[in-house]
Order: sequence, then C-alpha cells, then structure tokens
Amino acid sequence: MTRQMSWIALIGTFMIAAAFGIAVIREPARQAEASAALNTALIVEGTDLYAENCAACHGASGEGIAAYPPLTTTVSMDAQTVYNTIERGRYNTGMAAFGVDEGGIFTGMQIQSLVTMLQADTWDTVAARVAELGLTPPQIVVAEIPAETVALVETLPDGAALSTGLTVYAENCAACHGANGEGSALAPALNTDELRIRLSDADIARIISEGVPGTLMSSWSSALDAAQQQGVIALISRWGELNAAGVSLPTIEAAPLNMSPQAVANGQRLFDLLCTQCHGIDGYGSPIAPALNNQTFLSTTPDAAIQAIIAGGVSGTVMPAWSGYLSDADIAAIAAYLRSLQPNAPIVAPAQP
Ligand code: HEC
Ligand code: HEC
Ligand code: HEC
Repeated sequence: MTRQMSWIALIGTFMIAAAFGIAVIREPARQAEASAALNTALIVEGTDLYAENCAACHGASGEGIAAYPPLTTTVSMDAQTVYNTIERGRYNTGMAAFGVDEGGIFTGMQIQSLVTMLQADTWDTVAARVAELGLTPPQIVVAEIPAETVALVETLPDGAALSTGLTVYAENCAACHGANGEGSALAPALNTDELRIRLSDADIARIISEGVPGTLMSSWSSALDAAQQQGVIALISRWGELNAAGVSLPTIEAAPLNMSPQAVANGQRLFDLLCTQCHGIDGYGSPIAPALNNQTFLSTTPDAAIQAIIAGGVSGTVMPAWSGYLSDADIAAIAAYLRSLQPNAPIVAPAQP
C-alpha cells in the first residue's frame, strides 16, 4: 500500500516535471507566436494612424510629396531615431511633434505602432488602406511659380510680402489646401470670401502658428520665420485681390495613365486571365466579388487609388495583393483597361446570377 502510494507519487512527480519541461521547451515558440501576433497588431494600427496623419505629406506609399521627404528609407534607419523624430518632430521644419508629452496626439504605444509599421516595409498594403479610407492625397503639386506671375504680384500694394506668401504657400500648404487655395479632400479652401469674413488676420496668424490640434493642420511657428508667416497671412487675407488680378498658380498632375490601345489590350488580357473568376466577365461582378465595370466605382475612384487597391489587395477579404506577381506597368495597364470601360459602364452594377 505504502509502496503503491510512493509509485503513484513518483509517477505524479514525473508527470509534473515532464509537463513543466514541455512548457519550458514550448515557451520560446509560444513567445515567438505572441510577438508575431503583437507585431501584426502594431502594423495594422500603425497603418491606420499613418493613413490619417502622415500620408498627406509623406504620400500614400511613403514616396514623399513635393518638399516632403519619402519615408521608404526609414526601414534602414535606427528605430530609436525614427521614434524620436515622430515623438519630438524636427525643429524648424513642417514635421510637427506628435508625442503627447510634446503637445501632440500620440501615446508611446501609438508611436511604437508607427515605427513598427514604417520598418516592416509594407507600403503596398499601406497605400491600399489609404485608398480604402479615401485618404489618397491629390497628386497635384505646384509647378515652379512663373516669373510673370511673380512680377504681376509685385505690382500689387505691398507686393513683396504677397510674393513671399505665394512661395511659402506653394512649398508648404498647396499639397493639402490645393494649388490655388481651392481646398482638397484633405483640407478646407483658403481662398473664399466666407473665410475672409470669418477670420481676421489675427485669427489666421494664430491658426498658422498654433495649428489645429488633432487635425492635419500642424503648427508652423518653428518651420516658418516671421516674414514668411506674415507673407502667407497676407496671401490668405488678400486672395480676392489676387484672383481679381488674374493670378493663378500652375499645377502639374501626376503622370496620367497610359491609355494607348496596346496598354488597354494588355490590361484586358491580364484581367481576363487573373480577375474574371471573381469579378466576372468584363468586370460585371459575381457573387464573390463586386462589379468594377460600373459608374459608381469608376467615377469615385481615382486612377492612383485603383492601382493602389490592385497592388495592395483589400485586407480582410479574398481580394489578393497583386504587387508580388504583377509589375507596376501591368497594374497600370489593368487600371487603363478598367478606365476604358467607363464611357459604356452601367450606372449601377446589374444583379449577377
Ligand atoms: C505637414 C507635413 C508633415 C506631416 C503631416 C508629417 N510629416 Fe514627417 N516630415 C515632414 C518633413 C518636412 C520632414 C523632413 C524634416 C527634416 O527636414 O528633417 C519629415 C520627416 C519625417 C521623418 C524623418 C525622415 C528622415 O529620413 O529623416 C519621419 C520618420 C517622419 N517624418 C514621420 C512622420 C510620421 C510617422 C507622420 C505621421 C504621424 C508624419 N511624419 C507626418 C513633414 C510632415
Ligand atoms: C497636411 C495637410 C495640411 C497642410 C500641409 C496645411 N494645412 Fe492648413 N489645414 C489643414 C486642415 C485639415 C485644416 C482644417 C482644420 C480643422 O478641422 O479645423 C486646416 C486649416 C487651416 C486654416 C483654417 C481654415 C478655416 O477655414 O478655418 C488655415 C488658415 C490654414 N489651414 C492655413 C495653412 C497654411 C498657411 C499652411 C502652410 C503654411 C497650411 N495650412 C498647411 C491641413 C493642412
Ligand atoms: C479571389 C477572388 C478575387 C480575385 C482573383 C480578384 N479580386 Fe478584386 N476583389 C475581390 C473582392 C472580394 C473584393 C471586395 C473587397 C471588399 O469587400 O472591399 C475585391 C475588390 C477589388 C477592387 C475594389 C472594388 C471597390 O469597389 O472598391 C478592385 C479595383 C479589384 N478588386 C480589382 C481586381 C483586379 C484588377 C484583379 C485581377 C488582377 C482582382 N481584383 C482579382 C476578390 C477578388
């Protein structure tokens, strides 16, 4: 009896030791799994934060816009430097401090998500998510300000300040507020009578120097010196005079899609091969995937967004990311093919069997 007990006790001890041993052996694997899951969660969060707060300046795929630098290089930067840059900003530039301790809006964990996402190099997915949220920045940048325009502006009263303002505006504000202050999906118009009635020069000065916390409008007090701020305030409060004098800044748009018959035919060939099994013959849709050959989709989705969706797929659905299989030129050709369907596309997608 006693002997049997001790056997049971011994076996019990072995079992506990064995279980413990297995747990010890499994621990690193479990930790690796847990840290991979955490990493994915950080990347997903970082992607949304990026779409909402950074894409306007750094581009939907981190390619940089006009004077704003690309972030595709951050993958090889030291993580702590990337973290510090986002938390504290870069003094004397348009890069604001985003950390809560520095007057910004992000907690340490949110900044960590951004760093993880930037260094994971998942730009195709990011661009697709930015497009999905409708935040793809307008690909319009201001071209050089022509000498005639500068000369014309300088003939107006206090023209030197206005011409400084125009340069500051073209370099720093046009990406969000539009080439001629007409506004964009990202930021309100600045050239309206309504704004000039609502905001005094002092109000405009305050918004430019303090920014509007919690929005894309950051503080420009360290990026712009006093003369530059005075110039851009003069520009906004006197935009009516500029319009009356016929001043308008030229814009250059992103390279348009190549709509040549060869490109469209190549796009159609790829579409028939790779996309019809889900999106239906000629893109009319199927029970698996939505119609692409319809006015609603084609008229509300810019070329850049169509290409971004094809390249990056739609997360959480069966829509694959094609960037690994297709070249940029092939993706552009498919977008050209879809665009070529627009003139004859039905208003609403017909119901599919
Ligand atoms: C208003 C425009 C603007 C916005 C919005 C903005 N940035 Fe920047 N960012 C800049 C500018 C300008 C620089 C370059 C600063 C310099 O000259 O050192 C910069 C630089 C950076 C750098 C350093 C890049 C390098 O190569 O050294 C990082 C990292 C960065 N930004 C991340 C972000 C993140 C993340 C967000 C969103 C949370 C963001 N930025 C939002 C304008 C912006
Ligand atoms: C990254 C995008 C972005 C950039 C760059 C930017 N702004 Fe803004 N701006 C905004 C947004 C968004 C708002 C609206 C904020 C809000 O919701 O109140 C805004 C608001 C404003 C307003 C107030 C408009 C109103 O109707 O109340 C002024 C004035 C302004 N910006 C001036 C500027 C100037 C001058 C520059 C360049 C030095 C600039 N902004 C650069 C995004 C931007
Ligand atoms: C395995 C099925 C499948 C294949 C193959 C597929 N897609 Fe998709 N696609 C989907 C689904 C499902 C959605 C809808 C995702 C959602 O719910 O937002 C979608 C969405 C899209 C959208 C966005 C539509 C919108 O209304 O926003 C585009 C553009 C698109 N696909 C293009 C393509 C192209 C081009 C190909 C071929 C290179 C392709 N897809 C192949 C399943 C597929």
